[in-house]
Amino acid sequence: MHAVTSGQAPEQAHETVSHKIAFIGGGNMAQALIGGLLAQQFKAADITVSEPVEALHDTLRELGVKVTTDNQQAVHDARVVVLAVKPQVMALVLEPLRDQFKNQLIISIAAGVTISTLSRLLGNYPRIVRAMPNTPALIQTGASGLYATAAVETADRALATTVLQAAGLVLWVEQEQQLDAVTAVSGSGPAYFFYLMEAMIQAGQDMGLTEAQSKALTLQTALGAAKMAVNSPHSPAQLRKNVTSPNGTTQAAIEAMDATQVNVHIQQALQAAATRSAELAIALEHSSATVK
Ligand SMILES: NC(=O)c1ccc[n+]([C@@H]2O[C@H](COP(=O)([O-])OP(=O)(O)OC[C@H]3O[C@@H](n4cnc5c(N)ncnc54)[C@H](OP(=O)(O)O)[C@@H]3O)[C@@H](O)[C@H]2O)c1
Repeated sequence: MHAVTSGQAPEQAHETVSHKIAFIGGGNMAQALIGGLLAQQFKAADITVSEPVEALHDTLRELGVKVTTDNQQAVHDARVVVLAVKPQVMALVLEPLRDQFKNQLIISIAAGVTISTLSRLLGNYPRIVRAMPNTPALIQTGASGLYATAAVETADRALATTVLQAAGLVLWVEQEQQLDAVTAVSGSGPAYFFYLMEAMIQAGQDMGLTEAQSKALTLQTALGAAKMAVNSPHSPAQLRKNVTSPNGTTQAAIEAMDATQVNVHIQQALQAAATRSAELAIALEHSSATVK
């Protein structure tokens, strides 16, 4: 894995970025990415969203972007097309578009839809980047893994980086299979931290705090720990050792976790997510194989 870049793009901070971008699907992820693009000085007038759900149109228009229900019209003069529909409808969405792509860079954020499936659905179209973002993209604190075949040129890779970087950190992987690990670590990752928060809030309540007190303390602690880990030159392991005094309270907690092999269970959980990601990719490959 290589090329980690943060969401802050200082070189773009004072200039307007001009690329026509079309989003196919205007749901949660598309809205998150669009919010990030606008914050990074992309022009709203250059962004078109094709979304069949009329109820979402007002929300999208409030962002200032163009809204349509016509996918072909949306991609017509776009430089970048972001495929932000659910994986299950991808074949249906791409079939009518397969003759529409000439020079566009296609970025798919659909979980589990492989480059070969996308390329096949588009009549062997080569300019495709596959990305796996996560929900903190909604607050421009996301983490995205990106993969493209060797056929995708440096300029297209840079463009994909710019688009996804609007939502947070961007990390390119060298093998498509590694996106299963990205899915397991960061794609599904927010849920693991929410799970830990749930358990800590419950424990605080069990020990006499109100739910509100326990929640406030838990969330602020999660935020503080994440900020420390991001900003520190030390590894999380070292940071943990630094706050674990011999025979102190933290040591008692860590020993209890070690006794039940919490770390092993977490590793098994992430392995289960990666395995499921690979299974879903195979299932989607098969289900879309009937679409010529
Ligand atoms: N949310 C995440 O954490 C996350 C993380 C990584 C990747 N992703 C990927 O991001 C993609 C979008 O996820 P999301 O959470 O944003 O889903 P979402 O909120 O359901 O958004 C998808 C939107 O696309 C619309 N759509 C359906 N068919 C369409 C068509 N033919 N043409 C144009 N638009 C169409 C959907 O409308 P309907 O509601 O009518 O179907 C929906 O509004 C998925 O492929 C997912 O795998 C999501």
